[in-house]
Order: sequence, then structure tokens, then C-alpha cells
Amino acid sequence: MKARTPKESKAITTDLVLPGETNPINNLFGGDLLARMDRIASIAARRHSRSHVVTASVNHVAFQKPIPLGSVMTLEASVSRAFRSSMEIIIDVYIEDKHSGTRVLANDAIYTFVAVNDEGTPVKAPPIQPETDKEKERYEAALRRRQLSLVLAGKLDPKEATELKALFYGKEE
Ligand SMILES: CC(C)(COP(=O)(O)OP(=O)(O)OC[C@H]1O[C@@H](n2cnc3c(N)ncnc32)[C@H](O)[C@@H]1OP(=O)(O)O)[C@@H](O)C(=O)NCCC(=O)NCCS
Repeated sequence: MKARTPKESKAITTDLVLPGETNPINNLFGGDLLARMDRIASIAARRHSRSHVVTASVNHVAFQKPIPLGSVMTLEASVSRAFRSSMEIIIDVYIEDKHSGTRVLANDAIYTFVAVNDEGTPVKAPPIQPETDKEKERYEAALRRRQLSLVLAGKLDPKEATELKALFYGKEE
């Protein structure tokens, strides 16, 4: 299977935060943002795998900055690493300053999607070939995050989580 680059999976969407999508203090409701991130991440996963995809796990979300009513918000998602059938997707959420137009990172998230066939059975996804330094960094760290997610889901024995152990105790000689 031919490798694809993170750039080939990149999905971008820009939208407005409207009334009805906010919490009582007029900032975007967290659940609304999770759904938007899920949607854009699924497009990136589909572009990479060219198959149906399902959300397997939300690995990380950081609501760093509130996103006020009326904000112009851009979501960017791309596959950072593919394993066999699973793919890690990183989503960055930016808001634009009304006056300067400068983009500020408001939130980021990491989701895991799985490529599946019509019956919902996992199928192989192409490997990924990171190009830039940032893509290479994200690629390297993805294995650690996968192990953490699988340990938390009870699908990997912590003793087998070599990358996590290396993080806390250093690499074994
Ligand atoms: C995700 C799903 C397809 C996994 O199926 P499964 O029968 O458990 O298959 P496997 O155990 O072989 O896992 C398939 C892949 O998912 C990965 N995976 C499963 N759970 C994971 C988790 N919590 N975190 C990270 N990866 C996970 C596995 O490591 C494996 O990856 P690999 O093929 O790259 O090695 C299945 O659990 C499912 O359909 N879940 C519901 C998905 C859904 O409906 N999402 C929308 C929510 S409403």
C-alpha cells in the first residue's frame, strides 16, 4: 500500500459561531465543538484511507480559550500517523481577531479513527510519510498516545506499553 503524506489528508473548514451554539455565557458550547472536530477529523481520516471511517476514541481535548459568539473559527485536521486500521488525527482550532485578522490557536484535539468496510470490520489503512519537522514530531509521539489510549481502554497491558514506560523510566538498554 502506497504511503500518503499528512498534507494529502488535510481538511480545513471555516465557520461562524451563531446563537443557539453557545453556553449561557455566550461562548461556544464544548459539545458543539467536539462534534465539529469529529466531523472534520473524519474527513481527514477518509481522505487518507479512502474508506469508511469510525471514531474509535477521543484521546485528548484541550479547551484552552473560550470561543465567543460571532467568532470566525477555522478547524484544520490531518492524519499524523496510521497504524494498521487505525489513524491518529490532530485537529487545531483557530479563531480570528476581528480587527487584525490574526489567527490564534484556541483549542486542539486528538482523535483516533478506524478504517472499516461496509460491514464495519476494520480494514488496512495506508502508512503515512511525514515531511515537515512538525509532522515528524507528531508522528513520533503518536505511538505513545496510541499506547496510552489502548491502556485506558483496557486493550493493552501496561507492561506492553514500551513507549509509555520509556517516557517515565527512560529507554531500556
Ligand atoms: C472502533 C472499532 C471498529 C474497533 O473494532 P474492534 O473489533 O475492537 O477491532 P480491533 O480491536 O482490531 O481494533 C481495530 C483498531 O482500532 C484500534 N483501537 C481500538 N480501540 C482503540 C482506542 N480506544 N484507542 C486507540 N485505538 C483503538 C486498535 O488498536 C486497532 O488498531 P490497528 O488496526 O491500527 O492496530 C469498533 O470498536 C467500533 O465499531 N466501535 C464503534 C465506532 C463508532 O460507532 N463510533 C462512533 C461513535 S457514536
